[in-house]
Amino acid sequence: MSPPRKSRVKDRYNELGGELYDVRYTEEQMEKYEHVFAHLDRGKTLDNGCGTGLFLPYLDEHSVGLDLSSELLRQARGRVGKRHLVQGDSENLPFRAFVFANMASVTVIQNLPDPKHFFGESSRVVKNGGVLVVSSHKRVYSKDEFKRLMGTGGMSVIIVSTVENINDWIAVIRNTR
Ligand SMILES: C[S@@+](CC[C@H](N)C(=O)[O-])C[C@H]1O[C@@H](n2cnc3c(N)ncnc32)[C@H](O)[C@@H]1O
Repeated sequence: MSPPRKSRVKDRYNELGGELYDVRYTEEQMEKYEHVFAHLDRGKTLDNGCGTGLFLPYLDEHSVGLDLSSELLRQARGRVGKRHLVQGDSENLPFRAFVFANMASVTVIQNLPDPKHFFGESSRVVKNGGVLVVSSHKRVYSKDEFKRLMGTGGMSVIIVSTVENINDWIAVIRNTR
């Protein structure tokens, strides 16, 4: 299956809209956050592909959410306020190098044409030694495919968590850039 085009992904989430996104996915995503959060260090975190900002209230107060979809970000504004949000592309991040202590990206990379760029950009904006926690759908990737994908950034994969009752694989990666 070829990866979805970025403009199509953006349109799809804009058409869905933030309110409906929350109705459909809040419960499922919340189950993942507990496991993602457990691996993050303290400090300013980038929520890369933050959607409607469901995870942001649990993160350090200086954290930032970035997303491609203006409609999902509109919903996020009501949740966490405008100053914590940026519209942009995960594969071309509008941030200076090493400004984040951590990065979390929950159920995003299955949307990307080339996750290699995502890892390159993520490792650029996270400080050396910082943690990246990345999750994606078990129904899109087998565990081996997911593990291989995590290796493409040239960083050290610490663990790939296989919590049974959630729908995502979760990788914990140390930034050794
Ligand atoms: C399944 S949703 C997950 C949203 C959020 N992480 C959560 O836990 O609810 C996937 C998100 O990835 C975003 N996304 C997809 N491609 C992106 C890209 N290239 N750059 C930034 N965000 C992207 C979508 O707009 C959508 O908000």
